[in-house]
Amino acid sequence: MLLFDCRTRYVDSVNLLIDRVARSGTSVDTPKHLWWNGEQRAWEDCTVHVTEVGWSTVGAVFEGIRAYWNAEQEELYVFRLEEHIERLLRSQKLVKLPIHYDRDTLISAVLNLLKANEVRQDTYIFPLAYTSDTRHHRYDRAGFESELYITTRPMPSHLGSGMNMSAKISSWRRISEDVMPPRAKNISNYRNGQLARLEAGTDGYDTAILLNHNGNVSEAPGACVMFVRDGVLVTPDLTSGILESITRDALLQMARNLGIEIQERIVDRTELYLADEVFACGTAAEVSPITSVDRYTVGNGEIGPVTRQLDALYENILRGRESEYAAWRTPIWQRVAVGA
Ligand SMILES: Cc1ncc(COP(=O)(O)O)c(C=O)c1O
Repeated sequence: MLLFDCRTRYVDSVNLLIDRVARSGTSVDTPKHLWWNGEQRAWEDCTVHVTEVGWSTVGAVFEGIRAYWNAEQEELYVFRLEEHIERLLRSQKLVKLPIHYDRDTLISAVLNLLKANEVRQDTYIFPLAYTSDTRHHRYDRAGFESELYITTRPMPSHLGSGMNMSAKISSWRRISEDVMPPRAKNISNYRNGQLARLEAGTDGYDTAILLNHNGNVSEAPGACVMFVRDGVLVTPDLTSGILESITRDALLQMARNLGIEIQERIVDRTELYLADEVFACGTAAEVSPITSVDRYTVGNGEIGPVTRQLDALYENILRGRESEYAAWRTPIWQRVAVGA
């Protein structure tokens, strides 16, 4: 059984768990197969020349998708696969990377890859579309070619673990629409969150929250931000410089169905200082409670009731224990049985 220290950073927690999986002999970074440029191939066969490294990822876009294992049902559920693939194609369109595969091809590629890699644990699925043939070019040539790979690796969940974080309002501003598109999952965008996360770590915080160019709350590195005040769940709207997050959308729908009032709007930083509950959310972040912001204690410093309720419901949905949200899940092994 894996235990979390209450104050452990979620990134470190996930890394710690991945290390343990690695030490237990399970392959972490080397699944048997990758999907690359239209075909499922052996891991060893998927190589590119080192001189491609420099510019190939500047315009690259990706998705982070998760699949959750339910041991009782012996089933692996991919969460909101269609929505993730559709966002990948939107990201490609926004950064003008040629699109060679349609939605259904990529969905099948993910499902078949999970089967080929015999995945029976919580897993992260990573499709990446990148610029190819960059050896003799930089970033400024029109009509670049693109390639696409999909890989899988174990990523244990921290839901229900009691993990919580301290956050610092970053001195770095979130990239805005007039710099580069925040709503796309472009690899280059991530330098912004990385700098904020590095600053927060150096200053003794677990994570960061970035303000946008108007000075309003935007999001955390790799995660959206929500807070609760007087029973209302509030989150920055989609024009606050945030990614069009699939988890954010899921949690808002879940909260609405639970009868919780929700608001998507411009958020001031001081609202976080006065909030009863704050949490980050995202595919990797899942629900990550934030119990202090800039050393202001959030509520009473404990994980709040709305956060707990959403965290528990989210885990039940992800692991296939909630029939109401079945449309958000794609089971893997049942498909094998049906199609066999
Ligand atoms: C910058 C950024 N914001 C927010 C999120 C949350 O988005 P999603 O819920 O779709 O994973 C992510 C991805 O995990 C992200 O990278």
